[in-house]
Amino acid sequence: MSVIPIDKSIAQRCAVLGLDFDKSNIGEDIKSTLNAAEEFADYQKDLTLNLGNSGTGMRLLTGYIAGFGKECTLIGDESLSKRPMDRIAEPLKDWGADIDLRDHKFSPIKINPSNLQAEFTYDLKIPSAQIKSCLLLAALSSKTKIEIIENIPSRDHTERILEECEADIRREGNRIILDGKKDIIKKYIDIPGDFSSAAYLMAANILSKKTNQIENVGVNKTRVAFLQVLGEMGAMVMIRHPSIESNETRANLVAFCKDKLKGVTIDGDRIPNLIDEIPLIAILAMFAEGKTIVRDAKELRYKESDRISLLLSNIKSFNPDIGIKEFDDGFEIEPAEDKNMGIVKIKTGGDHRIAMSFMVASLRSGKKVEFDDMECVETSFPGFFNLIEKWYQ
Ligand code: S3P
Repeated sequence: MSVIPIDKSIAQRCAVLGLDFDKSNIGEDIKSTLNAAEEFADYQKDLTLNLGNSGTGMRLLTGYIAGFGKECTLIGDESLSKRPMDRIAEPLKDWGADIDLRDHKFSPIKINPSNLQAEFTYDLKIPSAQIKSCLLLAALSSKTKIEIIENIPSRDHTERILEECEADIRREGNRIILDGKKDIIKKYIDIPGDFSSAAYLMAANILSKKTNQIENVGVNKTRVAFLQVLGEMGAMVMIRHPSIESNETRANLVAFCKDKLKGVTIDGDRIPNLIDEIPLIAILAMFAEGKTIVRDAKELRYKESDRISLLLSNIKSFNPDIGIKEFDDGFEIEPAEDKNMGIVKIKTGGDHRIAMSFMVASLRSGKKVEFDDMECVETSFPGFFNLIEKWYQ
């Protein structure tokens, strides 16, 4: 068994679709989506489903439930209640759904009975796999047809699961076409380890000069641009024994760095492919030579926290000599020697990726880091801190 948890994106899609998978090592987000999907499958009138911290769960289930046209309310924790939901409600409403949001933007999401039109075409304005998947799931549950125009590719796990389960789905250039009239075949999905969780261990290897191998990691092409960035920064990753199960490629990964890390510039169409790894790229940038610039990544502001703002303020507490510039859609980091050896207090904003990123930073600096919230890591990577201690300390 892999030391990392199963892929959170794939598992939540399986949970919504009622597909069987190995539930022995799952984080809080998958649990929340699984519980909500199971409650919905047992539908009672006026149902309220709590998605906890899971934005993916809330967005995917909203599409799936709106397609059934059943009355239901979706709620989440404080952080999820601040994340934009109009991005899914607007296309669903244009398609015929009846949905109310708090202040036209946020959850609670109230889904009222309605019927979706038989055919709908949507041009994805935000390159988001959650919006795309929300609409695909709505077509499936409403047995209608959708055509999605995707100009900038985002992770394609939903398309792959639907293909695996023999749905009537095809891609023509930048268009994804799904006819929901054909039912899917429910089967067991063999879910690989989560690449975004593996990324913390890859960065930890690089910063602490170790060569630990991470086994059974999902290496879907729409998820692994981080590997290319590591190469540009002067690190190397060995990809061993690739294989395909349940329509997803997986492999064993060993990341390492013999030389010094170099700064890098990241922008444009590859941002969605590494959006969840950008906090880690910022951490690697703190210990590199030369500037790192990230642009076109405004979506970071709408994650479990405003990741641009929290990353930069925590980098300043970590080493006040590091030069930072904040842009609306990204940042610039100019590394500097660390002459301050005190304890660093990290404000996580309850965001698992901020907490794990600064834990990895502490491995290189040798500094003691204190977190205002360590529990948040449970949403995606149960046992992360123990594993870091075992492998790197
Ligand atoms: C996800 C898509 C991404 C990603 C999130 C999971 C998914 O979000 O950041 O962690 O499972 O589809 P967006 O679709 O909002 O970019």
